[in-house]
Amino acid sequence: MRILVIGSGAREHALALGIAKDPAVTELHVAPGNVGMEQIATCHPDAKKVDCPDTMVALAKNINADLVVIGPEIPLVAGVADALRAEGFAVFGPNKDAARIEGSKAFAKDIMAAAGVNTARAQQIIPGATDDEIEAALDNFGPTFVVKDDGLAAGKGVVVSPDRTVARAHVDAVLAAGNPVLLESFLDGPEVSLFCLVDGETVIPLLPAQDHKRVRDNDEGPNTGGMGAYCPLPWLPENGVQRIVDEVCVPVAKEMVARGCSYSGLLYAGLAWGEQGPAVVEFNCRFGDPETQAVLALLKTPLATLLNAVATGTLADQPALEWEEGYALTVVLAAHNYPDTPRAGDVITGAEHEAVRHAGTARNDAGELVSAGGRVLNVVGVGATLAQAREQAYAVLETISLDGGHYRSDIALPAVEGRISI
Ligand code: GLY
Repeated sequence: MRILVIGSGAREHALALGIAKDPAVTELHVAPGNVGMEQIATCHPDAKKVDCPDTMVALAKNINADLVVIGPEIPLVAGVADALRAEGFAVFGPNKDAARIEGSKAFAKDIMAAAGVNTARAQQIIPGATDDEIEAALDNFGPTFVVKDDGLAAGKGVVVSPDRTVARAHVDAVLAAGNPVLLESFLDGPEVSLFCLVDGETVIPLLPAQDHKRVRDNDEGPNTGGMGAYCPLPWLPENGVQRIVDEVCVPVAKEMVARGCSYSGLLYAGLAWGEQGPAVVEFNCRFGDPETQAVLALLKTPLATLLNAVATGTLADQPALEWEEGYALTVVLAAHNYPDTPRAGDVITGAEHEAVRHAGTARNDAGELVSAGGRVLNVVGVGATLAQAREQAYAVLETISLDGGHYRSDIALPAVEGRISI
C-alpha cells in the first residue's frame, strides 16, 4: 500500500510511525510532514496548503496513493476528503458534511439532541449582539463559565473560568474576530477522550485516554491544545468504554447515517464523567493531539490496514483490536511563552530518541534542530504501570534541552496517586 498522510504535528508523526510498522505498507509520504518524520517517510515540505483540495488531489495522484490519511480538522472541514473521494482515492477522514460535528458546535448540539445524547446546555451569541444581549446570555450560565469559539479553534478557543469578567472578555474577543460564541453549562467530573473508528454504523473504540489541557501543573493557567495525556484510564468503571459507545458514539453515528452524512473516519468524543455517567463536552472529527501519541503507542493491530478498512467501508469485517498490556503516557515540551506568543528559533538538543514525536520543530541554516511552534515535541513513555510509563517519559524529557521550554511535571499524577474518583 502507498500511503499519504496529511499533516505535520506530533499526532501525524505518531500516525506515520504506526503506519510505517505495518507490513502491508510499501511507501509512506507525508504532506508537509516535519523534521522528525524524515527518517520514516518521504516528506513533501512544499505541500503546506493542506486545506487546498486541488493541491492534495494533485499530490495523491503524483504518488499514486492507495490510501490518504487526513490528520488535522482544517482540511476535513474544508472538504479535502470529498475532493479526494471524487477522484477515486480511499480516504481516512470524514467528508465536509460529516466534519461539521467539529466544525460547527451548533450542528453537533443538534445531532446530540436528535440522538438523545447527554451534553451541556448551550446558547449561541452571534457577532453584532448588543451589550444587553451578551449580559443576558451570561446571566443564564455560570459560574463556572464555559465560553467557546464556535469556529475551528483546535481545542484552543475555550475559556473555562469562575470569573465573569474573564468570560466576558473571551466573548468579546471571539465576536471581534467575527466568530459566533457558544456559552455552555459547566460539566463536572473527570475528562475522558474516547476515539472511535467509525464506518457508517460500525463503531470500534480505541483505548480511553485523558488529556491535560491547562498549561501548568495542578490544572493552572490558560487552556492549551493539550500538554500531555495517558491511557488507558485506571479509574474508569469496567463498563465505561462500552457505556460511551452505547450512549454516545453509536447513537451519533446512526443519526449521521439517517441524515445522509454518514461518518467515515475517527470520531473523537470529549466527555466529562459526572454523576449521571458520560456527558459530551465536544466532538472532534479527527484523532486528538496529544492523546493519539499515547494511544497508538499501545496498539498492536497493524494501523494502515485498520485505517484502510475504515476508508473502504469494511471495518465491520476486521478482527478485534489487539493492544499491548500496560500504560502509555505522553508529555508535551512547549516553547517559551506558549500558549501566548511562542518563541521560535531556540535550539533543541537531545531529541534524537525513539520516544520523541516532533511537532513544532525545524532546522536552522546551521542544520540545528530549533523550535518552530508552540507545542515543540512530545515524549512518549510506556510501562507495565502508569507510574513506570511516567518515569520513562520524564527520564527522556530530562535529557532534552530547549531554552525557555516548559512542560507539566504532573501528567497522569492524579491517576497514579488514586486522586480521581467518579
Ligand atoms: N486533545 C485536544 C484536541 O485534540 O483537540
